[in-house]
Amino acid sequence: MLKILFAPLQGYTTGIYRRAHAEIFGGVDAYYAPFLRIENGKPREKDLRDLNSFDGNAREIPQIIANSVDEFKILADALIAKGYTEIDFNMGCPFPMQVNRHRGAGLLSDEQAVQEIMDVIRTAPTIVKGTAPVKFSVKMRLGQDSPDEAFALLPILNETPLSQITLHPRLGKQQYKGAIDFKSFEKFYEECRHPLVYNGDITSVSQISEMERHYPKLAGVMIGRGLLAHPSLAAEYKGLYDKNSAATLNCATLNCAATSQDFFDKLFQMHQVIFDHACKTYQGDSQILSHVQSFWEYLEPSIPKKIFKRIKKAGKLSEYQAAIVEISSQSSLKTVIPKQSSSM
Ligand SMILES: Cc1cc2nc3c(=O)[nH]c(=O)nc-3n(C[C@H](O)[C@H](O)[C@H](O)COP(=O)(O)O)c2cc1C
Repeated sequence: MLKILFAPLQGYTTGIYRRAHAEIFGGVDAYYAPFLRIENGKPREKDLRDLNSFDGNAREIPQIIANSVDEFKILADALIAKGYTEIDFNMGCPFPMQVNRHRGAGLLSDEQAVQEIMDVIRTAPTIVKGTAPVKFSVKMRLGQDSPDEAFALLPILNETPLSQITLHPRLGKQQYKGAIDFKSFEKFYEECRHPLVYNGDITSVSQISEMERHYPKLAGVMIGRGLLAHPSLAAEYKGLYDKNSAATLNCATLNCAATSQDFFDKLFQMHQVIFDHACKTYQGDSQILSHVQSFWEYLEPSIPKKIFKRIKKAGKLSEYQAAIVEISSQSSLKTVIPKQSSSM
């Protein structure tokens, strides 16, 4: 059975989202937190506050993005100080703000900078918590401009004690669209000496099973937008394999079809947790709305179009709540009645 990892998505897979998903849908082996970055020479406080969202049952793995050894050490040390023993390093972010600052996919063409960072992972005494070494993984693309970049780095990565590499087989310049380069993925799969995780455009159980069949050495799949659109996907996949052990994860959520009443019950439970958290944490309609509207963004195919538009367009909390109540009153969802938050 493949490991299912929840990909990090800035603005979507927040701490409260990760925790609510783990509790309500489950089936995910580890949740990767969106990257921690440097702001004014220090780890960004807002990113740090969003970590440590779990009590211990689910795994949360923080991620850092850095353009040099110096940034890398500051960020890794901050996470180690918070008690993390696993850290993911981002070499795939395609956003121009990061790429232009030599971070994310912008680092892939710089063998020397990557070598320096990998040297730190291999040897630096600061990257040790007590006596147990901290595990590092890498999440990367094939390159910013060419797949040659990943293949030039692979010998360096192979020589570094990484716990895994996650590969999104697109170039940075493609962002999240366009063809996935399976030919280069296969070459990387053959040559990579670390456990390899595939990431990109997975949206169904059959695709996960196909990846498992086609790539028997694969350590797992990392799924982002597919899980945001279909939060039961990981649990459904686990249920296909071993219903009894999957049942220990969260039996009520397993085997639910995306269209079932159970799916929507879970979805509204998850929404309620996120909604209540937003009402407690933020002030004013627009701040609260910006945090709750993103919950629905990738769920568009699962809810009626008209209501999706109302949720997106709501400028006031009262309009938003009316739209949510309307979804619950659709005939197929008639037993779902979202609670009003006590803070409203
Ligand atoms: C809005 C957005 C934010 C993202 N933020 C991060 C991030 O913080 N760290 C990261 O490694 N990848 C980030 N990604 C990339 C995703 O983790 C993932 O690699 C990408 O969505 C492709 O996987 P998918 O097709 O399963 O969604 C982001 C992607 C999007 C669309």
